[in-house]
Amino acid sequence: MFVCMCYGITDKQIERAVREDSVGNIRDLKKQLGVGSQCGACVDMAVSIIDQTIIDDSLFKDVG
Ligand code: FES
Repeated sequence: MFVCMCYGITDKQIERAVREDSVGNIRDLKKQLGVGSQCGACVDMAVSIIDQTIIDDSLFKDVG
């Protein structure tokens, strides 16, 4: 699913940036993938994907 139309960035790419490139907030994500630095329409969605990925990862770690 595309999150950022301006840069053609998908939710999977954002998840990967969080997991592999230690992106922790929208500022890091902008630097990394450009998400949100054009029209800004994707920012809210991108923020919730970052947050959700971090939550999922910490839940996974607790179980492991
Ligand atoms: S949709 Fe992401 S900056 Fe426009």
